Amino acid sequence: MANIRRITISPALMNSSSAWASEKEQIVELYECEYTGAVTTRTATLHGFQEDLSIHTVAFASSTVSSVNSYGYSPHPLSQYLTWVEELLKAGQSKPFIISITSSDPEELSTMIDSIQQLRRKVHDDQNSASKIAIEINTSCPNIAYAPPPAYAIPTLKPFLNVLVSHFSKDRTLVIGLKLPPYVVSTQMSELVGAIEELTVGLDESPIAFLTCTNTLGVSLLFADQAEGDIPRGQSSSQFALPTPLGGLAGDSLHALALGNVYTFRRLISASQHESVRNISIVGVGGVTNPDAVKRMREAGANVVACATIFGKLGIDTFKMLSG
Ligand SMILES: Cc1cc2nc3c(=O)[nH]c(=O)nc-3n(C[C@H](O)[C@H](O)[C@H](O)COP(=O)(O)O)c2cc1C
Repeated sequence: MANIRRITISPALMNSSSAWASEKEQIVELYECEYTGAVTTRTATLHGFQEDLSIHTVAFASSTVSSVNSYGYSPHPLSQYLTWVEELLKAGQSKPFIISITSSDPEELSTMIDSIQQLRRKVHDDQNSASKIAIEINTSCPNIAYAPPPAYAIPTLKPFLNVLVSHFSKDRTLVIGLKLPPYVVSTQMSELVGAIEELTVGLDESPIAFLTCTNTLGVSLLFADQAEGDIPRGQSSSQFALPTPLGGLAGDSLHALALGNVYTFRRLISASQHESVRNISIVGVGGVTNPDAVKRMREAGANVVACATIFGKLGIDTFKMLSG
């Protein structure tokens, strides 16, 4: 079990945001599974992302449990996820939802948080002793043309962080996390922690309650003969596993880097002079494909462990297997 502020995740295992948490049936299945402690929804935008399945897709590696994907965000707008979450919460179960959202515009992000807050007030999530709705801001999708992940450049990220501070200052019951990219240089991580420390000035709690490490590693290439099954291919790229042909790498191939990110963030936040930063939780994601990998994530410093690729391959039985 893990507590992230007002959210309790028990067991401390869940899905991470992905194309396999996109439709209502997928979300219901995750919600009803006794081995998941929370459900993370696919990243939603305000109006829905224009998905083209001839371009946006996933391929699995044949020799390891790894994937590359070229997906953008959910075709469903945020309002659709809020409707589903409301329905499920009203059905009376008690598992929390982590609603993943993103925007390339800070003002729009603020509007999206407003609509999540409306739902929270409607279901008394801000008044009950515990919350069932948290927000994860996806700052790290590598697959959006002309919109590099803002978390790779802290000055680009700051206007979004300021929006989060403003919402958190108005409502301290709001549990907010950042979905981060896999960093490859440790100063990128110390700069991010520095930026979060700056946000806490004048507040006794950090507006950021958790960090989810990591998203997929962009600009990755898998050849068709390295991938399994029938692969959807664009006309000009038949030798590659993805039509794009570049995409985000995940699964076993990402595991060491994800562990390194979790380990580094745990050390950085533990060493912070700000108590509120030391209390930030970490959700460890990346190459969690078997029970040993879950253990490694916890030993590296994750409070909660999550997965996508293995869930895409095995389906809901994944969570029983990982509970091992
Ligand atoms: C097909 C696919 C779709 C994904 N979609 C999202 C998404 O919408 N939002 C997000 O934050 N991460 C997304 N991810 C990233 C995963 O949440 C996770 O961070 C990453 O895949 C590493 O975990 P894994 O090794 O268990 O797959 C996606 C990953 C995959 C494989």
